[in-house]
Amino acid sequence: MINNVMISVKNLKKFFGDVKAVNNISFNVNKGEIFGLLGPNGAGKTTTIKLLLGLLESDEGELEVLGMDPEKDELQIKSRIGYVSEEPLIFKSLTPKDLFNFVASIRGMDSEETTEKAQQYLESLGALDYYNQLIATLSHGNKQKIQIIAAILHEPDILILDEPLAGLDAKSVKVMKEILDMHLEKGGSVLFSTHIMEIAEELCDRIGIINKGKMVGIGTIDELRAQSDKMGARLEDVFLRLTEQDVSVKEIVKKLRKSFNNKN
Ligand SMILES: Nc1ncnc2c1ncn2[C@@H]1O[C@H](COP(=O)(O)OP(=O)(O)OP(=O)(O)O)[C@@H](O)[C@H]1O
Ligand SMILES: [Mg+2]
Repeated sequence: MINNVMISVKNLKKFFGDVKAVNNISFNVNKGEIFGLLGPNGAGKTTTIKLLLGLLESDEGELEVLGMDPEKDELQIKSRIGYVSEEPLIFKSLTPKDLFNFVASIRGMDSEETTEKAQQYLESLGALDYYNQLIATLSHGNKQKIQIIAAILHEPDILILDEPLAGLDAKSVKVMKEILDMHLEKGGSVLFSTHIMEIAEELCDRIGIINKGKMVGIGTIDELRAQSDKMGARLEDVFLRLTEQDVSVKEIVKKLRKSFNNKN
């Protein structure tokens, strides 16, 4: 690991046939920071994350995670990462208690200590009542809380969260920010994906705006804001423009209604 760079991505490419899912992306995630990949649906966020985890093989580019190569050192990297995928890969027939005990056993952690820590996290997120309830019966947001706790229990160096906060209420997002800050204070870092500008703004130290597999803007919120001020626009509008989402919804709806009406 050079100069506190936990994740280094250089000119990364991954194509699926004609689809250029990741098309020459570069960024670093440094120790002690929350880096957000912000972009609309299909931008290439999940593909980038899967490449970093060694779950996909890249076509081109250089990748380093904790100084290692995800394609060669997948297992070593995984032991030092906490990952929450966008698909809920959670054992629905278990209770949170069972799940945390399972995590403790595969990660070689003390089960009493783990239970205590997990319960504290659950309490802070207002979900302690569900400790012994089947995960299948929990609400979407509460399932997400359980997944994030399961990923952070072993105190990983890097926490990779693929769109995990969209289902959380405002209070839980604030508590989650504190939990992430505590993780950073221990020398960790966070890579985080979202399509929601407000969430990126609230949580991230630096943001990479990604669209159609390309990085179209990168920096701190202040830097991105300064750039948008220069363009004489609000950051929100610049984000929508950069990610080509600024076509008026009214126009889209009008077209949609017209085409449906023509068919009727
Ligand atoms: N296994 C695959 N086979 C073919 N195409 C894929 C595959 N995985 C992703 N893609 C395509 O790559 C592009 C990027 O997808 P990706 O899942 O990385 O987007 P994303 O930014 O995570 O979007 P979302 O916000 O919807 O989660 C999309 O066009 C998607 O259809
Ligand atoms: Mg995704």
